[in-house]
Amino acid sequence: MKIAVIGTGYVGLVTGTCFAETGNTVTCVDIDKNKIERLQSGRITIYEPGLEKLFLRNQKESRLLFTTSLKDAIADAQVIFLALPTPPGEDGSADLKYILGVAAELGQMLTADDYKVIVDKSTVPVGTADKVRDTINDASATDISSSFDVVSNPEFLREGVAVDDFMKPDRVIIGTNSEAAVKILNELYAPFVRQGNPIIFMDERSAELTKYAANSFLAVKISFMNEIAQLCEKMGADVDMVRRGIGSDDRIGKRFLFPGIGYGGSCFPKDVQALVKSATENNYTFKILEAVTEVNSIQKLHLVPKILNYYGGNITGKHFALWGLAFKPNTDDVREAPALYMVEELLKNGATVTAFDPEAINNFKNTCKCNISYAETQYEALENADALIIATEWNEFRTPDFERIISTLKNKVIFDGRNLFDISQMEAFGFHYESVGRRKVSMPEIPELKTNI
Ligand SMILES: NC(=O)c1ccc[n+]([C@@H]2O[C@H](COP(=O)([O-])OP(=O)(O)OC[C@H]3O[C@@H](n4cnc5c(N)ncnc54)[C@H](O)[C@@H]3O)[C@@H](O)[C@H]2O)c1
Repeated sequence: MKIAVIGTGYVGLVTGTCFAETGNTVTCVDIDKNKIERLQSGRITIYEPGLEKLFLRNQKESRLLFTTSLKDAIADAQVIFLALPTPPGEDGSADLKYILGVAAELGQMLTADDYKVIVDKSTVPVGTADKVRDTINDASATDISSSFDVVSNPEFLREGVAVDDFMKPDRVIIGTNSEAAVKILNELYAPFVRQGNPIIFMDERSAELTKYAANSFLAVKISFMNEIAQLCEKMGADVDMVRRGIGSDDRIGKRFLFPGIGYGGSCFPKDVQALVKSATENNYTFKILEAVTEVNSIQKLHLVPKILNYYGGNITGKHFALWGLAFKPNTDDVREAPALYMVEELLKNGATVTAFDPEAINNFKNTCKCNISYAETQYEALENADALIIATEWNEFRTPDFERIISTLKNKVIFDGRNLFDISQMEAFGFHYESVGRRKVSMPEIPELKTNI
């Protein structure tokens, strides 16, 4: 099948590559010329495990093409995927300017004799498929209404495991009433659902809401655990035990119960806000989600009062090593990353920071524009630092060389926002160690520098 993917970011590039991998010819289009030039010359633009190999293979086989011309991209395409941004507008609602802008362009390009399916993969509010359809019709000089269908097909991939998620989705959601579109999308998705994972067909509006409901539910689950962690600290309970205790109940499930310093990324924060806004527009106050946003913004800074408290309220002149900048491991994405918020607070309080992240340093530099330094390795970041702060649970941070940490840090102090280490091990090493929802291992600050380790 010939496919066009409009928007070549995290979702677009993964979608295009994975459809090419199953034998389709895919043309990806983007307005960002630099991005397209890079991709055309075989250089991948995002870090996503497993993607580069598929990208190079399919590009070599001429099944994966890149262009800045929307017209060229859609010329032969039977299916056109929209993988465009839907950032939050000023009032929190999803800004549809990218989607509707492209819809208007499509309206001028589609013809009455060439049926195409336009598939919305972006996360969009209920009613967007209707708006896309109307915008296309309005922009067309002739009546093309029976030569295209607009389908809602929200994407559920997770950055960091996006290729796996796309190749083996838990489910594919397709919102449409068009039989022609159902037939085409059934064929297109068949290779991805061979193991019995379902394609669930529904109406457009339900499909659009399903995506928001899924992300918002997960945000509720994380925030609930983060609040339980707060209580654990106050009540002397251990969140790891509580997590295991409730996670073994099938109705609750084990996943998404790990507390930390809040969720980030390009999806949860904006999708929760957008659903709250959509609810308000429909005369409904989504009380749980309003609370979730508040809980998460507090949680992102959960370590800061602990750090201040440890240094008697004053961190002016203190220097911190920060491990992890990406909003989660296995991605270079720093959008809404807790590290952004934490760095801002540390600098505001007069501290300095040297950060390390395996993949996200460049994106962090471009996003944060803050005056911190960056290290080449996780251990280099520790040099001259008063304490180590952990913001992302990259695998390489899980079992570090503790002797090396001890000999490089000025003092044996760790603030761990991802609960990576075992409490008794920290105790045995003599660290002052604070994490989330677990017992603090208390060691008093050693004010003078270590001299001979
Ligand atoms: N990132 C995720 O993990 C994820 C997961 C599921 C759903 N989504 C949703 O998918 C959508 C896309 O997200 P993303 O993370 O891939 O965004 P992104 O910002 O990484 O990529 C969007 C791309 O669209 C391009 N673009 C903007 N206007 C364009 C135009 N007129 N023509 C062609 N290209 C244009 C941008 O240059 C950019 O490359 C959003 O609605 C998001 O909520 C994202």
